[in-house]
Amino acid sequence: KKSMPFYGKKVMVTAGPTYEAIDPVRFIGNHSSGKMGFALADELARLGADVTLIAGPTAQKSDQNVIRKDVVSAQQMFEACNSVFPETDITVMCAAVADYRPKTVAANKIKKQDSNLILELEKTVDILATLGQAKKADQILVGFALETNDEENYAKGKLEKKNLDLVVLNSLNDKGAGFKSDTNKITIFNRALERTVFEMKSKTDVAKDICSAILKIAK
Ligand code: C5P
Repeated sequence: KKSMPFYGKKVMVTAGPTYEAIDPVRFIGNHSSGKMGFALADELARLGADVTLIAGPTAQKSDQNVIRKDVVSAQQMFEACNSVFPETDITVMCAAVADYRPKTVAANKIKKQDSNLILELEKTVDILATLGQAKKADQILVGFALETNDEENYAKGKLEKKNLDLVVLNSLNDKGAGFKSDTNKITIFNRALERTVFEMKSKTDVAKDICSAILKIAK
């Protein structure tokens, strides 16, 4: 039991980027590799949790003990999360969800023209904020924040605005942190806005730290 502290807990993790189609061959995406979210899903499963991983397009392989649902767009990720969330005890949203998508998706490949091309973008749904509103008292919700400036204030603002229990901040200003890297450097804030600063570590070890922080507040 001591080695399986998440035994019996249903956990959902999101990971990777989302791709928002422009036409049948092009999309808007981002540099998320999915490594942090996959490391978290693996570690939570190792610690005994029943893990469902909602994954955007990535090259990562998931542990065989993890139930994996692959999605492409923010809308698909939203729908997958919505159907799994009501049953979960703990949710960790690691995905780099696109904030905007093309307002219309062209049915055919857009041809090159002499003039510039203007794409109109519309907002995607904020999955984490939606789950924060739906959250019951016995559910734990953890979000990520990746910032380039005024990091701590944005992270704390996110915790409150999205009704989170923990927010994990990784700054793009730290070398070896963030997107494609195998390492990460995080700061975790809890609801009391207490701050824990961690050293630069492998994403596997960062996942262990995040799991410990969740266990501290587990209900
Ligand atoms: O507001 P911001 O995008 O910086 O918040 C980041 C957090 O919100 C991450 O946990 C990310 O997974 C989540 N998010 C989401 N849906 C969005 C945008 C962000 O779930 N559309």
